[in-house]
Amino acid sequence: DASAGGERGPAYARAQSTYQYDSQPVYTTTSGHPIDDPKKYQRAGAQGPLLLQDFHLIDLLANFDRERIPERVVHAKGAGAYGEFELTHDLSDITSVAMLTGAVGKKTPLLTRFSTVGGEKGSSDTARDPRGFSTKFYTEEGNWDWVFNNTPVFFLRDPTNFPTFIHTQKRNPQTNLKDATAFWDYLSTHQESAHQVMTLFSDRGTPASLRKMHGYSGHTYKFTKPESADGSFVYVQIHMRSDQGVETLTQPEAAERDGANPDSLTQDLFEAIDRGEHPSWTTYVQVMTPAQAEKFRYNVFDLTKVWPQSEFPLRPFGRVTLNRNVQNYFAEIEQAAFAPSNLVPGVEPSADPVLQSRLFSYADTHRHRLGSNFMQIPVNTPLHSFNPFVRDGLMNVNGNHGANPNYESSYRQLTFKAKRGLPKTAHDDWVGESSWSVFGDVTDLDFEQPRKLWEVLGRQKGQQDNFVSNVSGHLSGARKETRQRTYDMFTRVDKDLGRRIKEATEKAVQG
Ligand code: HEM
Repeated sequence: DASAGGERGPAYARAQSTYQYDSQPVYTTTSGHPIDDPKKYQRAGAQGPLLLQDFHLIDLLANFDRERIPERVVHAKGAGAYGEFELTHDLSDITSVAMLTGAVGKKTPLLTRFSTVGGEKGSSDTARDPRGFSTKFYTEEGNWDWVFNNTPVFFLRDPTNFPTFIHTQKRNPQTNLKDATAFWDYLSTHQESAHQVMTLFSDRGTPASLRKMHGYSGHTYKFTKPESADGSFVYVQIHMRSDQGVETLTQPEAAERDGANPDSLTQDLFEAIDRGEHPSWTTYVQVMTPAQAEKFRYNVFDLTKVWPQSEFPLRPFGRVTLNRNVQNYFAEIEQAAFAPSNLVPGVEPSADPVLQSRLFSYADTHRHRLGSNFMQIPVNTPLHSFNPFVRDGLMNVNGNHGANPNYESSYRQLTFKAKRGLPKTAHDDWVGESSWSVFGDVTDLDFEQPRKLWEVLGRQKGQQDNFVSNVSGHLSGARKETRQRTYDMFTRVDKDLGRRIKEATEKAVQG
């Protein structure tokens, strides 16, 4: 009994007692041929070679040989569960997203997947890394995916940097080892990363539990009301604040857990939900008008910056609760395909170039990782969808729209939703000559928010010391010139911080 409490064994043992199985079917080959003993195989004589005609054995081996699919190129290690979103405050003054408007108490089913970023599928849950926090809402008007992190900013703002940045956080092409020099070489030559580096090397880089961390859109999105006559919109950032509070690990605690149980956060999530402790997050939106954006101190399309809450207060609107474990990890979590391009009427991407690039990258990788009909995998299928122009392809398993015409036929008219215009304001007028663009040089503006974070750490007992020790332990593995450039970066955040990092790192180098 999953709700009985008391002494608990490992997750798999409980899964056996609490999980549903098909009722006692007869064992067969995949083609349905009943088999009396799965251990037997056919051979020539009593000791001779095996016979090709033994389909049962070949069926087993051939399927086993094909079990692995490509792991996610980033965010490969993950854990997740189902749940629901509950609307607590109607947002119809700023958006027409169905899930966010109407009666308070309205519920939308969802799936969440948490992940680390850099490690492989079997890597440790306690690695120092941002955590991915993806949620797929199965709304009345399609899937809306929040492909968020547990940090409000990111390392970069120019999307061309993403592949090379990720390479420096993964393995060296020659040694196949993690490479501290490449890691800090990238960061210290792209100092717009300082804000995210400050977060990552604080103890927030090692959460104690997936249930005890916040989630952030990071990017600016647009909330729209396409049916409104004036076509106005607002810029928004979404926050998910853990109702369990925030709990982090120190570096030694993380290392100890890693040695004892590299899956500790996966286990913590599964077991909490299994015993009926359903984690929840209160969701908030920060709202900015285009006119405010024009005057804002930072570029709203710059992913390395937050919007100060004193200027753009958090407005609550709902709650995300995780309340049900999956039955099958591979089917429901590994095959889940989250994409920032999965949006619904009432929300649109902003012009943030990193977000714009992500609109392409996720569905593209899904076609590679899961196949072109990945949307037919049950966990990815929206509540309602009908597009008879999208046909055929490998592994088409949902009936392929039957005899429906595969073009816009005058004999079988399609039904369309009432027309909605695209929001259009002066702020959205992008007409002009095409240009080659990057955000440009790192300036003092880029160090203001990291400096604030350093001050915040100063108000939390021991956190500045932990930060210095977390950085120096890692940075001491990098080459001399890279170490020096990194000291310069931290000095631009705060002189004292730069000095402390240098002292601690050089001491660690001396060893
Ligand atoms: C996963 C690309 C930036 C959050 C992924 C995946 C790719 C990718 C290819 C694997 C998806 C899959 O196999 O299903 C990119 C690119 C980026 C970028 C090209 C920038 C140009 C970001 C940012 C965030 C983010 C800024 C957070 C604000 C995530 C999360 C996942 C993910 C949470 C895991 C999704 C899951 O749980 O399945 N990314 N990413 N990424 N990314 Fe990004």
